[in-house]
Amino acid sequence: MALEKECPRTVSCADIIALAARDSTVLSGGRNWEVPLGRKDSYGASLKESNNNIPAPNSTLKTIIAKFKRQGLSEVDVVALSGSHTIGMSRCVSFRQRLYNQTGNHQPDRTLDSHYASFLRTGCPKSGSNQNLFLLDFETPAKFDNFYFKNLLTNNGLLNSDEVLFTQSEFTKGLVKLYAENNEIFLDQFAKSMVRMSTVKPLTGDKGEVRENCRLNNH
Ligand code: HEM
Repeated sequence: MALEKECPRTVSCADIIALAARDSTVLSGGRNWEVPLGRKDSYGASLKESNNNIPAPNSTLKTIIAKFKRQGLSEVDVVALSGSHTIGMSRCVSFRQRLYNQTGNHQPDRTLDSHYASFLRTGCPKSGSNQNLFLLDFETPAKFDNFYFKNLLTNNGLLNSDEVLFTQSEFTKGLVKLYAENNEIFLDQFAKSMVRMSTVKPLTGDKGEVRENCRLNNH
């Protein structure tokens, strides 16, 4: 609102979100990067298209990599950007399958630490409590660091899509180990990959619009 008053119809919501992502990373301990600006906002959003293009928490590593590649992002980007799960939370419904019936045989995921699984089951029962929230990195939840990767080494990743980086490919496993050992290398690669991700098909020029109100429900 203040921005719109000062500088009407100039800075898009998409640019504001990209800047906020960078600033919140820096404020919580991550590296700085220069945000390429000039995105426009789209006129609409498609749930179907996003479900098609964004991996689900129970996707296999192969699917995750394929979806990133379709956008021009590499396996290195997949691993580094997943490191953003060093911050924030997930709902129970996004990882329940791992606690009770990972492969259809009514057994928990073997690549989930059993003590951690017991703890998770207390707040994420077999049914209900879908919206209960759990930290994606329970070691240092508010710090942008490499504890997300350290957790993966001990089967303490919360989402299936997290743990598969360590269990389903030698290449991504190597990167997980590298980032777990060296926070600086992770932070540098994260900043680079964020710049790469910001080049994924943005609307620019006379395509799209600059929305005046960035709230979801602005009608
Ligand atoms: C690799 C594929 C990815 C999958 C499958 C995935 C999946 C998820 C899921 C299921 C959640 C919890 C949502 C919920 O239950 O409400 C989540 C949270 C989050 N994800 Fe991802 N994610 C992926 C990649 C990324 C990337 C590339 C970024 C950013 C660079 C990112 C940043 C976040 C953040 C910050 C949260 C926490 C949100 C909050 O606390 O409100 N994720 N992700």
